[in-house]
Formats: sequence, C-alpha cells, structure tokens
Amino acid sequence: MKLNPQQKTQVALQLKAHGHSEYKTDIEIAGGLVLKNFLVSANILRPEIMSSLQLAQWLCLNNGLYKNKSVIDVGCGTGILGVVMALCGAKKVICSDVDGVAVKNTNLNINNYELSKKIKVVESDLFVNIKSQKFDVIVFNHQFFSDGPMSEQLSVDFSIIKRGSLIHRFFEDVKKFLNKDGVIIMNYFHLAGPVNNPAVQAPKHGYIVSERFNLKVTAGIQKGPVSIYEIRLK
Ligand SMILES: C[S@@+](CC[C@H](N)C(=O)[O-])C[C@H]1O[C@@H](n2cnc3c(N)ncnc32)[C@H](O)[C@@H]1O
Repeated sequence: MKLNPQQKTQVALQLKAHGHSEYKTDIEIAGGLVLKNFLVSANILRPEIMSSLQLAQWLCLNNGLYKNKSVIDVGCGTGILGVVMALCGAKKVICSDVDGVAVKNTNLNINNYELSKKIKVVESDLFVNIKSQKFDVIVFNHQFFSDGPMSEQLSVDFSIIKRGSLIHRFFEDVKKFLNKDGVIIMNYFHLAGPVNNPAVQAPKHGYIVSERFNLKVTAGIQKGPVSIYEIRLK
C-alpha cells in the first residue's frame, strides 16, 4: 500500500530523525526508573523520541503481566523493552532482532545494566533462530507504516516501514511460541493506517484483541493517537 501525503510527511520526519551516530542518553521510564547512559547505536531506532517510550513506560507500570515469567522482545532495537522488563521483574528475557547492529546494541546495553544473566540476545528473523520454547509474554513493537524501502539505511527501514506481510507471518509463527494463556503485547501509532494495525490484522489469525492503553502523544516525533494492545488466542 502506498503512503498518503500525511503518512509520507511523518515517515520523512522519522527517517530524518534517524540519520544519527552512536550516542548515550538518560531515559526516564516510570516509577523512578531511569535508564542511565542508555546506548543508541548509529541508525538504530531512537526509543526516547518514538512510541517505544510509551510502551516501555506502560510495561514498567504493568509489570504484574510478566513478573517472574518468561518473555521475548521481538525486534528489540536498542533492547529498551527487554531491559525494562528484566529490571521490572521478568524471570527470563530473550531479545531478538533481524539486524546485527541492533543485536550488538542490545548486548552492550545489557552489559551496562549487568543483566547478562537474565537476558539473552538472539539474531533472528522473527522466530527462525528461536529454539522451540514457549513464552508467557511476547512483545513486538513492529513497523507501523506500510510501504518501502524508503531510505538507503537498512536499519532505519527495518524499524519504520514494512509492507503488510511481516505482521501476518508474525501472527502465524508466534502461535508455536506462546504458552497456553500467554499474551502478545503490541503498540500502534494510528496515523500509519490499517495495514499493520494489530487490532485490524490479529483477528484474521484467530486472536482476540483488547486495547489496554491509548494516548494522544504530544512529545517526541510520533505525535498523535497511540494504542497498546493485549492479544490472546481465542
Ligand atoms: C519499531 S523498531 C522497535 C525497536 C525497539 N523494540 C523499540 O521499541 O525501540 C522494530 C525493530 O524490529 C526489527 N525487525 C524488523 N524486521 C524484523 C524481522 N523480520 N525479525 C526480527 N526483527 C525485525 C528492526 O530491526 C527494529 O529493530
């Protein structure tokens, strides 16, 4: 699907904001948790200016969902979501990403927070390299916009834009990795339209979707309505 003019402007803004070199920053999550010196490698999604931040905050405030449970952060980028869940009580965390730069970035953050006993990082296209194991909670902050590729920088494209097929592969493949009563958590930036919207696509694969959070975000560069969905198999 082609982007409409408003979506094109938003994607251009996001791409422009991601031509960055490696840097470190303090990210305030919630409840007094601040990720000090959090590393963001060159061209990897900058969680502090994207809706990753609202998801990280929500995960921190809703840790009852995964406390003492096993979780996977699919498409981990910097590793922010996996790191937050590990710090907020998850028992075992896997972070995975198809992009080797993201895998390295996540490993460096894990070492920085001394979480290497709790978190393992795997380079994987969705679940391809994930050994047959099941998770209680599966988090996927996926690509919202459907078009592309649009930039010359693969890491940035990987993070922001994907034609509609990945989300469908995800909803099928994830079934083998979800514990009975397991839950998938996904967020969504509504300006991106329906093609990658979990609330629209997950029911086609036999899931029930409940919105757990919505906010009209006014900070960062993804301004507008954002939702967080809890997705369970029927
Ligand atoms: C929107 S970013 C989210 C990054 C991070 N989880 C966050 O919240 O800031 C999406 C991530 O998914 C990764 N990704 C894209 N396609 C993937 C695939 N087929 N399998 C695994 N990860 C993928 C990208 O490399 C990128 O790091």
